[in-house]
Amino acid sequence: MDFFETIRGRRSCREFLDRPVSGKDIETCLEAARLAPSGTNAQPWRFLAVRKPELRIALAEAGYGQPCLRLAPAIIVLLGDRGIYLKRLRRAKELADIGAVNSETLAAVEAGYKKRQDGGSGDGVPDDVAIRANCMLAGEHYVLAATAIGLGCCWVGAFDAEKVREILKFNPKYNFPVALLPTGYPAGDLPPPRPRYSISDIAWKDEAGRPWEAGTA
Ligand SMILES: Cc1cc2nc3c(=O)[nH]c(=O)nc-3n(C[C@H](O)[C@H](O)[C@H](O)COP(=O)(O)O)c2cc1C
Repeated sequence: MDFFETIRGRRSCREFLDRPVSGKDIETCLEAARLAPSGTNAQPWRFLAVRKPELRIALAEAGYGQPCLRLAPAIIVLLGDRGIYLKRLRRAKELADIGAVNSETLAAVEAGYKKRQDGGSGDGVPDDVAIRANCMLAGEHYVLAATAIGLGCCWVGAFDAEKVREILKFNPKYNFPVALLPTGYPAGDLPPPRPRYSISDIAWKDEAGRPWEAGTA
């Protein structure tokens, strides 16, 4: 599927056929997720693929009974991983070693990291926020790959994180759930596209508040 066809064809899919998703298809989507960018190439994510019916039923309850969780034959639980994120400086050095970033860039990353370790605001937002942002990028790669191979998927952010942890028994010191991604074959036709702001509503030109006009050369 062409890139824009995939982007335009994606919808939040909330109804699924009663048909299992193969491990191979899940892997195709995970491969797309794996290739997502992340700050300092930290890759602070885990994808817990859940297909066991009893676990899916429990996850649907943790998601306040949302039908898309109940109906999906697979639920991918996107987890942030603080343990992996702690290794981000090592990942940054690796980037320098292979010549992907130069020594000045590495020095800037190291300065931000050190400031954080010293208790300053350092390299940006709090760790869990940064981890979450990185996870969302990988999650959307997953969702778009699912669309491209004919699967349906829905981002689910409304769930009880503590219940999800109890069900899946990950270590809360390191892992926290970012989203649930129910995945399966869409039942019925795709719904029409959902409303979106126009480019001039959301984009500014040269100064804050000055709309980007359609057709700007
Ligand atoms: C971070 C995030 C959390 C979301 N959480 C839920 C959710 O809990 N339940 C749900 O049915 N849809 C959820 N959605 C889907 C949105 O409602 C949907 O993306 C939006 O209405 C636009 O529709 P579309 O995805 O079909 O274009 C979520 C989407 C995102 C990106």
